[in-house]
Amino acid sequence: MSSKVESKTGKAEKRGTASPSSEKRRVLVCCALPYTNAVPHVGNIVGSHLPADIFARYCRLKGYETLLIGGADENGTPTEVAAIELKVTPKRLTDVFYKVHKMIYDWFEISYDNFSRTSLPVHHKTTQDLFLKIYEKGYITKGVMRQPYCETDKLFLADRYVVGKCPVCGYEFARGDQCENCATLLEPEQLINPRCKIDGSAPVFKDSDNLFLEREKLQPSLETWILSQKHWRKQVSSIALAWIKEGLRKRSITRDLKWGVPVPLKGFEDKIFYVWFDAPIGYISSTKEWAERSGNPDKWKDYWLDPKTRIYNFLGKDNIPFHTIFWPGMLMANGDYNLPYDVVGLQYCNYEGDKISKSRNWGIFCEKVVESGLDPDIWRYYLAYLIPETKDSEFKWDDFQTRINNELVAAIGNFVHRTLTFASNFLGGVVERKELGDEERQVESKVLQQVAEADSALQDVRLKDALRNVLQVAIIGNEYFQKNQPWVLIKEDPERCKLVIYTCVNICRVIAVTMAPFLPSSSARISGLLDLKGALSWEGELKFSLETVTMKAKPEILFKKIDDKEVVRLKSIVTKSSDAAEFFNS
Ligand code: MF3
Ligand code: ZN
Repeated sequence: MSSKVESKTGKAEKRGTASPSSEKRRVLVCCALPYTNAVPHVGNIVGSHLPADIFARYCRLKGYETLLIGGADENGTPTEVAAIELKVTPKRLTDVFYKVHKMIYDWFEISYDNFSRTSLPVHHKTTQDLFLKIYEKGYITKGVMRQPYCETDKLFLADRYVVGKCPVCGYEFARGDQCENCATLLEPEQLINPRCKIDGSAPVFKDSDNLFLEREKLQPSLETWILSQKHWRKQVSSIALAWIKEGLRKRSITRDLKWGVPVPLKGFEDKIFYVWFDAPIGYISSTKEWAERSGNPDKWKDYWLDPKTRIYNFLGKDNIPFHTIFWPGMLMANGDYNLPYDVVGLQYCNYEGDKISKSRNWGIFCEKVVESGLDPDIWRYYLAYLIPETKDSEFKWDDFQTRINNELVAAIGNFVHRTLTFASNFLGGVVERKELGDEERQVESKVLQQVAEADSALQDVRLKDALRNVLQVAIIGNEYFQKNQPWVLIKEDPERCKLVIYTCVNICRVIAVTMAPFLPSSSARISGLLDLKGALSWEGELKFSLETVTMKAKPEILFKKIDDKEVVRLKSIVTKSSDAAEFFNS
């Protein structure tokens, strides 16, 4: 369906042009809130947390006022169902999984300024207030909805816990909220041959009072808004416009469940909000929690009320309709807050030829990656390479090994290491500032060309392209080093030798800066060794103009090669997902 609708926005135009330097840009990066009913796999990292982190780190390097916000999506059906399956309370389920999620994102060095929880009071209050305003403004109506009820589990089975055949494309395992195959948003009753996902029984449909968001009323403003987002990716606008074209209908925002945000309206007190109604509000409440904690409780307003702030949302493709229609619609109905500036909808990352699946034990599982004993930057390098920006990507072990060995180790790591070792061994760790010669100016301009390309790629959130530019810088550096043979020059022309090493150290600085969003620890090691401090910023062009550098210590190898034995070892650890029950034993 979506593919037939041509985006009126056409080809991606020049995005994110820099604002005048006098005025500091402010950026709020929001990563889709993961459900805390299971442990994340590598596809979840590649598909939202890592790209959001890379982008936020880039914005900080540019000197923008930047915040990376996320949290756990803990309410409603997903949690209640998992709690039944694992025989624990929703509270225990979310407490345990919240910690596991947090630990994993910390391990991957996802630089969340706040990773909140939608079970917190600040979130309940924010959700209820936002709702009441929408209600007062007349965008909410009451109505009766038939909902699937599982008599075995004694539970209203909203949305994704009913599966059946998609009425649009015929896919057999469509969920009650959305068909994963054709992305159509559904109501459970539209499914052909619906079944309860927990026990497979056929649900009965029961009437219950519900509140609905009148999305028809929002359609014209949503359409105008979407059409004016010239900088969105085409795959994102076309999904949104396909929705608009089909016509928006009212959508229920309440559920007959217990675990979630209570509905603050007479007659509805025993219901909670639909999880997709409260979860995105988590972006706001997480920002509030951050502000509270940082001792400046009003600071969240800069991000949500000042229209100059740019909000970037990072999410997987099944989340695109919610972030281009449902959530902005809620915000428009409410009227108080900033709308997303960019909706970075990513595709899927598969594993060795098939979809990642925890139940089929097919994929790479984060709780095991953490135990793998391999530097997070090694994972980040390959995972950044896999970010599915325009099409699905695929984790392959032989590709992993080749990219790490040929690119990260042989090009980037080797260039930095040979430069720093040389400086340490032959120049006593002191690299004097020099005037560049003609050859050096040429190398500088080639490197700065790569820097400019990386910069504009990152502005556009084309993260993978920027990583290629970093690699190119190392390749240029290696060629220059090789051609000039400093190990010969040190005897024949020591002055020129110093200039060559000075040039190479400048290239190392460019690498340390441009790799920082991708490989933060390795970047910090290089800059620590070179004592770069203020020079580790991307506010300027990164010209070859470092002052004399006095190295802080002897360099150590940055990245080690991964041999076949190591691949076998890693594989035996990270591809076995743990049984969820294990987390509840203690
Ligand atoms: N929990 C949802 C998922 O994992 C994403 C929620 S995104 C938010 O698919 F906007 F609601 F926060
Ligand atoms: Zn379908």
